[in-house]
Amino acid sequence: MITSKIPKKNINFNLKNKNIIITGGNGFLGRQITDALINEEANVFIIDIKKPKKKTSAKFFYSDITKENNLKKILNFFKKKKIKVDVLINNAAVNYSPKKIKRNSFKLENFPNFLWDKDLNVSLKGSYLCTKIFGSYMSKFNKGIIINVSSDLGIIAPDQRLYENSGFIKPITYSISKHGIIGLTKYTASYWAKKNIRCNAVAPGGIFNNQDNSFVKRINQLIPLGRMAKKNEYNGLFLFLCSDLSSYLTGSVIIADGGRTII
Ligand SMILES: NC(=O)c1ccc[n+]([C@@H]2O[C@H](COP(=O)([O-])OP(=O)(O)OC[C@H]3O[C@@H](n4cnc5c(N)ncnc54)[C@H](O)[C@@H]3O)[C@@H](O)[C@H]2O)c1
Repeated sequence: MITSKIPKKNINFNLKNKNIIITGGNGFLGRQITDALINEEANVFIIDIKKPKKKTSAKFFYSDITKENNLKKILNFFKKKKIKVDVLINNAAVNYSPKKIKRNSFKLENFPNFLWDKDLNVSLKGSYLCTKIFGSYMSKFNKGIIINVSSDLGIIAPDQRLYENSGFIKPITYSISKHGIIGLTKYTASYWAKKNIRCNAVAPGGIFNNQDNSFVKRINQLIPLGRMAKKNEYNGLFLFLCSDLSSYLTGSVIIADGGRTII
């Protein structure tokens, strides 16, 4: 008789007491991921320049990720408490809401150079600095996971027709930073593979957040699944990447966009 050896419980999924840092954890997507991780009893540490909107059991560091000294102070907290950093999620970025931007102000022809510096500083320099500071710490323990948040716009160019008549233009900095995040992911995955640090990127498609009706109608037509993502629809992906269920995954870009980039 053949007996099944499949374990009843999946032992590779356990985030209880894992120490997980998430940058931009008080933003729209960050809050979803944070809540999902807390539900799995992980210890979540948020680094953000925005205070939390509601009470949370996550520990909050009010800090700008573009300042290396701030990050070093946060690292000292972990060192003093003698605790590891199990996972770093580089999620913070400047993600402009079309409703709050002056018409035509992001046209490439006169794109303000100070925004180039500001936007790339947060998403690229900030992610690089967090990787450098917390990744180096992980490397001392020969174990760690880094997850970088890119976008479907890290794979394809923005379709500016989506914003037609609204006066909004998806800024060039968004494309550059979301593509760059993928480069950072591959570099880190290769560089620290021997230190057992896995680094992957997630490329989410647009999340529904009460955007303008005409925008939603247009974008839905570009998505094979016919709709934008619900705000909690990426939780499973982050839980998977934070856990040992993804133990053979490194340097990958997981595109979760309802199929937008396949057509
Ligand atoms: N919302 C979407 O539809 C969508 C789609 C694909 C990818 N993404 C990506 O998801 C991530 C989160 O986006 P979001 O929509 O939640 O945006 P958001 O603006 O709501 O959140 C970004 C967070 O980053 C924080 N932040 C900005 N600058 C910072 C700094 N210097 N130091 C520390 N924190 C800083 C902000 O305060 C904010 O809380 C981004 O990387 C974005 O590119 C979002």
